[in-house]
Amino acid sequence: MNTNEFISENLDTSNLKTVSFTSKAPSNIALVKYWGKEKVQIPKNTSISFTLNACFTLTTLKFTKNSEEDVLPKHFYKNVEVFFEGKKKEDFKPKIITFLERIEKFCPYLKQYKIEINSRNSFPHSSGIASSASGFAAIAHCIMQLEKELSQILNIKLNDELFVKKASFLARLGSGSASRSLEGEVVVWGSHDKINGSSDLFGVKFPFKLHENFKNYHDTILLVDKGEKQVSSTVGHNLMNNHPFAEQRFVQANENINKISKILQNGNLEQFINIVESEALILHAMMMTSNPYFILMKPNTLKIINEIWRFRKETKLPICFTLDAGANVHILFPEKDRKTINDFITNELIQYCQNKAYICDRIGFGANAIRSIL
Ligand code: DP6
Repeated sequence: MNTNEFISENLDTSNLKTVSFTSKAPSNIALVKYWGKEKVQIPKNTSISFTLNACFTLTTLKFTKNSEEDVLPKHFYKNVEVFFEGKKKEDFKPKIITFLERIEKFCPYLKQYKIEINSRNSFPHSSGIASSASGFAAIAHCIMQLEKELSQILNIKLNDELFVKKASFLARLGSGSASRSLEGEVVVWGSHDKINGSSDLFGVKFPFKLHENFKNYHDTILLVDKGEKQVSSTVGHNLMNNHPFAEQRFVQANENINKISKILQNGNLEQFINIVESEALILHAMMMTSNPYFILMKPNTLKIINEIWRFRKETKLPICFTLDAGANVHILFPEKDRKTINDFITNELIQYCQNKAYICDRIGFGANAIRSIL
């Protein structure tokens, strides 16, 4: 796999002593799930997601050039400070250091700076919504803003296409699903013979015309359990090594990509529901059949699923659910049915949420730069 195109030019940092960049990056919800990877951050199967809008991370990276007497690049551990919602976060540091070490080869200029990371989420941190996708996408986007600025000083043009591709490439090295949070409305990560341009190294925009039925598609997230996850995604992915059903699962996921790709173009909501719900249950079935085995769904997760099935049978409305690696339920539905389905959610489903908490989100358009707030 050739990663040379992601190694930056030799960029001179001497004219950029202190600079801050802010980026906003959304979360995403996978329709066909990424579950299983090999070193380093290479997915075992292709995945596809809706980019979200209301759930996002806003991050500022402040770069301060190492002083003259301190020109020798230090280990990142000494050069990075991480703040989350204004508070210093030592426990976030190890994952960020690993990420910076992985990307150092591609962004060698980073070692010349002290980096202060300030981040906050639009959703409560303890909501059980994974923030690694939006978090690493935002950090990677800020780093690319720095790379663009350094390139400009040398009159090197970093075009928009390479900017977003490298941002996704870097984000992937922080968290796999983060590679799908740079663009919208639908992103594919992992090479697939039927998806032109797809790659294991970065996410690409779904290369076909998205059917009108999916424009403004809703994702209402029911917060069933806000507790810390019992099993991290990384541990879960690793359990797919030596998993008895793994090989079949990877074949199936790639077939589901084929199917959903057609559905996203032809707008068949019945088939959409079938694949999306099946993918969610397979993800959890993989967890239940790994060794050690575990269950992330809670009793209320199942209650909500059954209520959705009952309501769909009664009303024939195209409402469906998906799950990520947790107990929360994502309810997906088209714009045209939002009134009836919102009423159903507020009247009948939020009783199953912790403190009746839920988030109304919808399909979005990806990450962008924000005028610096520092
Ligand atoms: C269940 O991207 O969180 O949400 O690469 O180890 O950071 P790492 O894993 P992560 O895994 C996400 C898994 C998932 C499915 C998906 O988003 O495709």
